[in-house]
Amino acid sequence: MTTTLITGANKGLGFETARRLVAAGHTVYLGSRDAERGRRAAEQLGARMVVIDVTDDASVAAAAKIIEADGGLDVLVNNAGVAGIEARIGELGVFGAAEVTADMMWPLFETNVFGLVRVTHAFLPLLQRSTAPVVVNVSSGLASLTRVAAPGTPAYAYPGVAYPASKAAVNMITVQYAKAFPNMRINAVEPGYTATDLNGHKGTQTVEEGAEVIVRMAEADSDGPTGGYFDAAGTLPW
Ligand SMILES: NC(=O)c1ccc[n+]([C@@H]2O[C@H](COP(=O)([O-])OP(=O)(O)OC[C@H]3O[C@@H](n4cnc5c(N)ncnc54)[C@H](OP(=O)(O)O)[C@@H]3O)[C@@H](O)[C@H]2O)c1
Repeated sequence: MTTTLITGANKGLGFETARRLVAAGHTVYLGSRDAERGRRAAEQLGARMVVIDVTDDASVAAAAKIIEADGGLDVLVNNAGVAGIEARIGELGVFGAAEVTADMMWPLFETNVFGLVRVTHAFLPLLQRSTAPVVVNVSSGLASLTRVAAPGTPAYAYPGVAYPASKAAVNMITVQYAKAFPNMRINAVEPGYTATDLNGHKGTQTVEEGAEVIVRMAEADSDGPTGGYFDAAGTLPW
């Protein structure tokens, strides 16, 4: 049994992943940037709650200290993410190439990319002390250059720039970390289009279906794949 941290686990895919891992007998730290939302979610699942805002150095460092003091970490699930642009311009939206500005790109990269690196960097020393360290980076099918460039597919039809670019960066980060830490299983996963707050519940899958590949990769053993990009059906093209 492992000890797992899931960022952004107070709802959506992160919450469902936490539920499944707790049910399987793992110790789970349910990460939430809001203490009250996190407390309620963790209580529901019998998980431990840790406050972690992936955009904040002090918050991430404090979370790492708490988990280190409690005994360490085997599995990190970098799940916290945003898809629309709200922080900077006061509205939620998806902006195509004609409208997108550097300012609009920033909040998505801040959470999805810089946040993921901030958290991974802070928890590396703990993971290195584990006998079977695992990192799962929750990417997206929209990170696939092959898919987004393939006419006639849903990925091709998606007009936004910031979100796919941020998740493509997550894929590259996954590959580079996997090469640097061959003792760890480090993979990117695409949960599939899942009904959550992220897409106004327009997603066509349930969170149970979406969390499937996240849970599978979180439970990867030392013989499992690393440096890969997977959905529930198998390997995806980069
Ligand atoms: N749903 C899909 O169709 C889909 C498809 C492909 C990939 N994904 C990816 O799956 C992951 C989970 O998304 P979801 O669909 O479950 O969305 P969600 O229900 O909106 O959950 C997102 C989670 O991330 C948290 N979060 C956002 N900014 C954060 C920050 N700065 N620090 C810590 N936590 C933060 C949110 O916390 P608050 O509640 O405090 O906002 C929430 O817990 C994301 O990385 C997303 O890109 C989703």
